[in-house]
Parts: sequence; structure tokens; C-alpha cells
Amino acid sequence: MIQFENVSKKYPNSDTEVVKNINLTIPTGQIAVIIGPSGCGKTTCLKMINRLIKITGGRILIDGKDIMDYDVIKLRRSMGYVIQQTGLFPHMTVRENIEIIPTLEKRDKEKTSRRTKELMRMIGLDPEEFLDRYPTQLSGGQLQRVGVARAFATDPDIILMDEPFSALDPITRGQLQDELIFLQEKLKKTIVFVTHDMDEAIKLGNMICILKDGEIVQYDTPEQIMKNPATEYVREFVGRNRIWDNPEYIHAEDIMITQPLTVPGNLPALQTLEQMRIHQVNGAMVLNREGVFLGFVTALDIQRTEDKNTPVHKIARQAKVTAAPGDSIVKLLDMVNKNKTSLIPVLGEGEQLLGLITSSSLVTTLSRQYINYEEV
Ligand SMILES: Nc1ncnc2c1ncn2[C@@H]1O[C@H](COP(=O)(O)OP(=O)(O)O)[C@@H](O)[C@H]1O
Ligand SMILES: [Mg+2]
Repeated sequence: MIQFENVSKKYPNSDTEVVKNINLTIPTGQIAVIIGPSGCGKTTCLKMINRLIKITGGRILIDGKDIMDYDVIKLRRSMGYVIQQTGLFPHMTVRENIEIIPTLEKRDKEKTSRRTKELMRMIGLDPEEFLDRYPTQLSGGQLQRVGVARAFATDPDIILMDEPFSALDPITRGQLQDELIFLQEKLKKTIVFVTHDMDEAIKLGNMICILKDGEIVQYDTPEQIMKNPATEYVREFVGRNRIWDNPEYIHAEDIMITQPLTVPGNLPALQTLEQMRIHQVNGAMVLNREGVFLGFVTALDIQRTEDKNTPVHKIARQAKVTAAPGDSIVKLLDMVNKNKTSLIPVLGEGEQLLGLITSSSLVTTLSRQYINYEEV
């Protein structure tokens, strides 16, 4: 875990604080992305973690211990560091570059070599082909892959990455992002990743920290940043319609009708019909006393029932399919298509009815993206 406590930075030759009173906790095993426009203090924040830049106010703790209490060399070696310009040594082969620190630390050669090859494969470079090449014989994407492998080489708990993919073309960049996600699934490091690209932040981050003029504007999950931007600045920065690029973040609970007409199961059919008339709907959800969903009934179902005193639960129809509150809109649309239904009850853990998805609530949600585009 990395904790920033009231961290500030003033460079010696200037009076302004470029980082102001930052409080931030990055949980172990997660990727936190720091994002913001050029000059907002991202690199300064990152370099304070491995003490390449000296903090001038507050403190940073790693696993509860102040970084100033660590031996600075040990501290740096316990963290992988990847930068945009790779920082690979041109006179060293790929293998030598990756194994710099393991060699300095006199680690077991065979183990190191095995790990190097394993890392190479994980990031999509064939060890046979690339290990003995020099940096000038690699493309930008390949260089950056080696940079990533080198950061992971000593198996550090923390990896710091400063815009590592920013100089790459979009396709290569996407591939490296995918490879980082794959590495992280396997290795579960604590990663602080700096970028100025919101797509990248949303794709990679478990948490996103938005900086403006050296201050945190919002520190939240990608989902919350998109759904509940803290300020207009965040909203602009994220882009108003970003959520539509990431429909997996739109859930049943966000778009369901939360108060559909419900009736108790023992209500006679006639009174149920009366309730529908009063509420001007042509269907009702039938519940038992505990709020458990028993089925739904339409006005037509009741009209077709001869004995209008029949308790409505006897007429109620089972839903073809039900959803959980966390189901994504992608899954809901799929349910509608596969089951040819326009009615999906959203049920909680005890089968209680939480809300209702109708084809019109889906259409309304989907059409909002176009309305929003016009507003912008
Ligand atoms: N060594 C330095 N001396 C003085 N000012 C600096 C130095 N390094 C960075 N700055 C200033 O600190 C601010 C934040 O810089 P930086 O952390 O590099 O931003 P970012 O990485 O977000 O682009 C900028 O205004 C920059 O000009
Ligand atoms: Mg920077």
C-alpha cells in the first residue's frame, strides 16, 4: 500500500507549490492511474514515491513506513520504473538491460534468466529472437516492452510508470495496454501509472486520480468518475459521453424503473385491475408478503380470467428471464434479444423485486446518448 499524507512539493528555484496537499491511498495489488493535463504535477508525484524528487511537505508511506526511513537505494530497487523514453542502455543487449538490477544484486543467474524469458513471453516478445539484440534493432513498441520487462525483472511489489505508452501509435499502444493487463492479472503488483489519456486511464485503472494544478480533483473508480464526475472540470476532462464508450459500466440498477406497480399475491384479480387503472399502466408485478417476486400480470390476463375474485398470484406469469442489479446494459440487451421479452424484473439476493427493465427504459437509455451529443 502506498499512502500520500498531505504531500506538497515546491521546487527550490520557485515559490509556487506544484503539488499541493495530496492525500491518496493506493491499495496493494491495484493499478492507480494519475491523470491530468501537462504540467499538473503527475511526474512530480510519481518521482516523489521513489525519492527521485524530494518531498517538501507531508510524507509518503509504503506499507505503513515513511519512505524517508528506507535506505534510498533499497527503496528504488524495490520499485520498477518505466518511462516514455525507455532509458534502455544502447550498448547493452535486451537481456543485459532487463537483468541490470538482478545482476547488480548478484541474484541467481539461472533463475534470473528463466524469469527474463518468462517476462519476455508475457509481453509478447520471443526470447530467442530478441534477447541478444541491441535497442537500436527494436521498434518503439518492442523497446517499450523491454522497458516493462525490465521493471518487472526483480519482482518488485511496486511499479511506477510515467506515460510509458504515450509515444506509441494507437495500435501498438493498445497491444501494450492489453499486455500490461495480462501481466497484472498474473503478478498483481501495486502500479502507479501516469497518463494524460482518459481512454488509457479507464482501461487500466482500478482507481483514477484526476489532478489539476497540483491538486486532486477526484480520486475514484473509473465507473464513478464517469457516472459522478466531482466537478465540471472532471466532466469536461472525462468527456460527457464517455460512458457510452464503456457500456459495461451501465448497470440494470442505473436504468431500471424503481417503482413499478406492485400488488400483493392475494389481491383479487378485480382489485388488481383497478390498481392498474388508477396508475394508468397495463401490468403489475406480483409480490408475496416478503417482497419476493412471484410473477407479473397484465390487464389482458385479468380480462381473460372468468372468476375476477381469483387471487392474482394464481394468474401471474413467470418472467422469462430476470436480471441482477449489477448486470450490464450489454447483457440486458442480449437477454431481450435471446428471450424475445420486453420485461425483465431486477431481483435482489433474496429474489425481492428491486425494479423493472422494460424495452422502453432500454430505448430511453440508449437514445440519451444521442440527445447528449446534441447538447455538447
Ligand atoms: N526541476 C524543476 N524545477 C522547477 N519546476 C519544475 C521542475 N520540474 C517540474 N517543474 C514544474 O512543476 C510542474 C509540474 O511538473 P510535472 O510534475 O513534470 O508535470 P506533469 O508530469 O503533469 O506534466 C510544472 O509546472 C513544471 O514546470
Ligand atoms: Mg510528466
